[in-house]
Amino acid sequence: MNRMPVELAVVGLGGWGKNVVRSFAGAKQARLAYICDSNPQLLDKQRQFYPGAQPVSDFRRILDDESVNAVAIVTPAPFHYEMAKAALLAGKHVYVEKPLTLTVEDAEELVATADLVDKKLMVGHLLMYHPAVTWMKEQIDAGELGQVYYMYCQRLNLGVVRPNENAFWSLAPHDISIILHLFGAEPEKITASGSCFLQDGIDDVVFANLTFPDGRIAQIHVSWLDPHKERKMTVVGSQKMLVFDDMHPTEKLRLFDKGAQFPGDSNSPAQVISVRHGDIHIPHVPDKQPLDLETQHFVDCIIENRTPLSDGRDGLRVVRVLEQVEHQLREVTIRHFPIHQFQHLRKVA
Ligand SMILES: NC(=O)c1ccc[n+]([C@@H]2O[C@H](COP(=O)([O-])OP(=O)(O)OC[C@H]3O[C@@H](n4cnc5c(N)ncnc54)[C@H](O)[C@@H]3O)[C@@H](O)[C@H]2O)c1
Repeated sequence: MNRMPVELAVVGLGGWGKNVVRSFAGAKQARLAYICDSNPQLLDKQRQFYPGAQPVSDFRRILDDESVNAVAIVTPAPFHYEMAKAALLAGKHVYVEKPLTLTVEDAEELVATADLVDKKLMVGHLLMYHPAVTWMKEQIDAGELGQVYYMYCQRLNLGVVRPNENAFWSLAPHDISIILHLFGAEPEKITASGSCFLQDGIDDVVFANLTFPDGRIAQIHVSWLDPHKERKMTVVGSQKMLVFDDMHPTEKLRLFDKGAQFPGDSNSPAQVISVRHGDIHIPHVPDKQPLDLETQHFVDCIIENRTPLSDGRDGLRVVRVLEQVEHQLREVTIRHFPIHQFQHLRKVA
């Protein structure tokens, strides 16, 4: 068997892991050496697709194999810290799904461990690899929008209702990572409110507001109790406005030549602030799968000794926001008793 520069194992073959393993199996300069899941049925199901990979249920088997130099961890978030730390200390480069960890303290420790052992630590902030987001970043950095004033993100749907984590931890890591990526900064102030309607202590809907040191603001609205299926981001600048609608099958990006015009602007005779409506540009977005770009990026960063775009420090910045929002929610969340607790009273009535 020909060894590749990156000999890789994927751990966790569940709902998302089966996509990640497929993508890594197709990565150039890498070989899928192991697939791992503690659930024997899942492992059995996946092994038929990857005959060249060794199926194992015990993660430690991978850590003990010195020929493996990279591990992708796609297990539920509570396991990320322990597994990523063990893999780093075993001398492996580590890809870990979002969120990096459940606490800032754990994320800081993983970043420090990766530095210590001089291995790559990359977080699955998938949308940072979306060609539409790459285009947005280029436009913003080139000044096409003028001065960026604010942005907001909506990630809404009916379901999937999670039993352990709230809607913010489940849905918002992508939005946070994109906001920090596009703004190139961390927020100095965060406020948030949410509400628990279905399960006690688990927010179904959350609104979070991020204020940046230079006055830019961003809002994130997430919910799994909403009639709309939305995955949308809007960025408003002084010259142009940009919308990324990830639910649109073909026209995901729209750049609006719209804005406010001040008295004294060269083209404006008005004495008051007026608005300007111009053309709408719909750029072509390359038809490349973000997950394939992301997994190949991890492999390339190992081979070329580059820092991943979504490295451990990026993961840490996102966890900082998640943790601060969590603190806010614990203070201001309106708690409702789960409706099912009242069902028996309804029957009696
Ligand atoms: N980037 C994205 O767009 C995206 C989308 C969905 C989920 N995720 C992330 O992916 C991760 C997994 O989510 P999921 O929906 O696939 O979860 P899941 O529960 O469907 O699958 C997790 C799998 O991990 C296995 N597992 C747990 N502990 C293990 C261990 N010690 N050793 C081996 N296997 C173990 C479980 O048996 C299960 O099959 C989460 O961190 C989630 O946030 C990312």
